[in-house]
Amino acid sequence: MERELALEFVRVTEAAALATGRFMGRGDKIAADNAAVEAMRIAFDTVYIDGVVVIGEGEMDHAPMLYIGEKVGAGVPPQVDVAVDPLEGTNLIANGLPNALSVLAVAPRNCLLHAPDIYMNKIAVGPQAKGYINLDASVEENVRQVAKALGKKVKDIVAIILDRPRHKHIIQELRRLGTRVKLISDGDVSAAIATAVEWTGVDILFGAGGAPEGVLAAAALKCLDGELQGRLLPENEKDRQRIKEMGMADPGQLLKMKDLIKGNDVIFAATGITDGDLLQGVRYSGSRATTHSVVMRSMTGTVRFIQATHCLDIKPHYVARNSVVNNSEN
Ligand code: FBP
Repeated sequence: MERELALEFVRVTEAAALATGRFMGRGDKIAADNAAVEAMRIAFDTVYIDGVVVIGEGEMDHAPMLYIGEKVGAGVPPQVDVAVDPLEGTNLIANGLPNALSVLAVAPRNCLLHAPDIYMNKIAVGPQAKGYINLDASVEENVRQVAKALGKKVKDIVAIILDRPRHKHIIQELRRLGTRVKLISDGDVSAAIATAVEWTGVDILFGAGGAPEGVLAAAALKCLDGELQGRLLPENEKDRQRIKEMGMADPGQLLKMKDLIKGNDVIFAATGITDGDLLQGVRYSGSRATTHSVVMRSMTGTVRFIQATHCLDIKPHYVARNSVVNNSEN
């Protein structure tokens, strides 16, 4: 993929963030999600790609836009797979909490894992600890290996994990080891990326989250030279069937980076919606708004942070339609 596309993809996540940012703390995650999806869909039309959504808002029957299989882009080469999460962290924005993002990843056709919307067990680290993790090993073994790789003591390691009852045993084990633990209410894409960004202070991600989010996080970690391993967690026969339909012969396969992202040509873009560890959230002031984004390319390893000021009068499609906030004179 041409490097110029990177900036085009940032425009797409910026559009989604600008549209949904108005809903921060308003308690309406559905409206926030709709605004992000609609803006992202419109923004994609201007991008010169022949894209197919492989990770999206669900199946055609349930999602009006950005559904799996939907064509996006201007319909000209290159042919690409597109993974999107226009609003990663619906509860985060509804409650005004940190780390809500708009994210996407794009790779040549058939290079992104077509993951169904089920859970995935995950473990992730940054570049220094790459090669030292194993999803099938114990929590203790992984923490000790990562500590060794980073030249730290176990008590200095920071593990990040979704605060869920299903993770009680992992959290207990981390506490028994004396590891520092960062519990998050939502947003494991941002959490996985944090393991590869030194200033966040996060060393390892554990736990089960969405499989689509796993593929998106793997795309980011591919660009950052980190590592994510995953395993899908089907809950019933229907889930197992869906996995097979998506082209995976063994639903229980350990998914390594090469299984999640094939080749070495992926672009990942994200824009902050609420303030977070990695990115600032959207700021509005009259007819202007600022966004903070990151865009990365695996081919070169370039990680580019972009701060942008947008004139909302000139680009009205950047403002959520059907939004009471939008029509308010306040
Ligand atoms: P949404 O944006 O779809 O609400 O996802 C937020 C999220 O926290 C993801 O980051 C994570 O992978 C998933 O939900 C975890 O699912 P659950 O809330 O069911 O534990």
